[in-house]
Amino acid sequence: MQRHETLDLEDFEALLHRAAAMIADRVERIGPRAEGPVVHPATFDELAALIPSDWPEHGAGADAVLDEVAHCIEPYATRIGHPRFLAWITTSPAPAGTLGDIVCTGLNQAPLSFKGGPAATVLEHVVIGWLARLFGLPEAVGGELDGPGGTIVSGGTMANLMGLTVARHAHFPEAAAKGLAGLGRTPVLYVSDQGHMSIERSAVLLGLGADNVRAVPSGADNRMDVAALCAAIAADRLAGLAPFCVVAQAGSVTTGAVDPLPDIADVCAAEGLWFHVDAAYGGAAMLTDEGRALLAGVERADSICVDPHKWFFIPLECGVTLFRSKAQQIATFRARASYLGEENPHDLKNTTFILSRANRALKVWFAFRTYGRDRLRRIVARNMELARQFRDLCAASPEWRVLAPVQLSIACARYVPQGDGWSEEQVDRLQVRLLERLEASGEGFLTPAMVRGRAGVRLCVANHRTSGADIRLLFDLMTSLGRELAAQEPQGPKAPQTPQV
Ligand SMILES: Cc1ncc(COP(=O)(O)O)c(C=O)c1O
Repeated sequence: MQRHETLDLEDFEALLHRAAAMIADRVERIGPRAEGPVVHPATFDELAALIPSDWPEHGAGADAVLDEVAHCIEPYATRIGHPRFLAWITTSPAPAGTLGDIVCTGLNQAPLSFKGGPAATVLEHVVIGWLARLFGLPEAVGGELDGPGGTIVSGGTMANLMGLTVARHAHFPEAAAKGLAGLGRTPVLYVSDQGHMSIERSAVLLGLGADNVRAVPSGADNRMDVAALCAAIAADRLAGLAPFCVVAQAGSVTTGAVDPLPDIADVCAAEGLWFHVDAAYGGAAMLTDEGRALLAGVERADSICVDPHKWFFIPLECGVTLFRSKAQQIATFRARASYLGEENPHDLKNTTFILSRANRALKVWFAFRTYGRDRLRRIVARNMELARQFRDLCAASPEWRVLAPVQLSIACARYVPQGDGWSEEQVDRLQVRLLERLEASGEGFLTPAMVRGRAGVRLCVANHRTSGADIRLLFDLMTSLGRELAAQEPQGPKAPQTPQV
């Protein structure tokens, strides 16, 4: 019988072994051996010239394409996971999470409906349950819909959007049919001036309008000023507007500040507002005693954003929104269409906006079961200590100013050249060049930050491989790079320096 053509590969298993060997070698070279520059200096144009870009009429075969990956892609891939990759909040992925992700891709489940991925559906339920318990959301007492819900999405931006979508629906259900214009009142949302940009972007996407997002001032510790929040709500009510939601940061993106959650929860309760906590980064601190004390009050949230792909060491992509009430979540997202087949009460299509979805829960489940909570807890606690180590080194040096208190695992500091004649603006520019030089050295990768109007270097330790020796190396190297740059720099008129925090 003549076989029709498919896309199957005869030597699939051997090819998988080859791909696996490549991944294992890379992890070894990023992690235990920590070889090569953290960020390769190649430019877009150089890589565009190198990476094959023709879509051939007749394919080259997977072995040849794997050769291309080995020569043109892998060597230029940023060494995220290197012990001195401390940029943004981009985690060093745990190898068990990588294993889970590979299995996830191989199994290729479609858990939009229970039948598209029965075990995948249960896995999402399990992972959401673990995280809901970690945050202390109340368990179901009656039917399942009584208890907390959640959804796994691509990351924190989506997770915040999901939280605010349910907030809008819970407060203005009529908007689903009429649109916001049909409400006859203007919904207003509050977030501190340290809030992540995804909050304003969500407001824009949800039709709330960026002008109706109030940036509540934060204090010198970068935490929301609750008196200013109350004043803003009162002013908006007086103006006939409709306050409906407060977003608190539990680990702000720039400095890791945790807003005063119990006070904000009180305001939300008294004013009848939705309480959303953006714990995309800081949520993992809930594993530790110190973090639980810092995030106390999060258990009163109506919705929480938390990213396993940040400080839980899960490979990209993975974000989660938790909901205090699964019923409110389902009321917002229920999706019916005859082509989707018979309803199952556990269908994930009803828990979020999207339909087709990967089984991201599998990699979280795999990693969490591999390592256990205790091992993750110790690494998160060590990451906090390492950020404090960097802060202490800076505080003890006349050449550095600490720009913000360290609350979680982010430290921000400013290299201040010695001698007279430096303006603040010149010193601002020096920080950026210092980071460029660090990157060019291949020894580390950090990102800049503006803290209360002044530039600095920002070190975010969401990395299971970073040691105290790495922090010391970075501090010494950046200090000597700072000195070199300062010696080359023509100085301007003297201006007052930023006070030490
Ligand atoms: C506090 C906070 N919220 C939300 C986000 C957005 O997360 P993602 O980059 O996964 O979309 C970030 C990203 O750094 C963040 O720090």
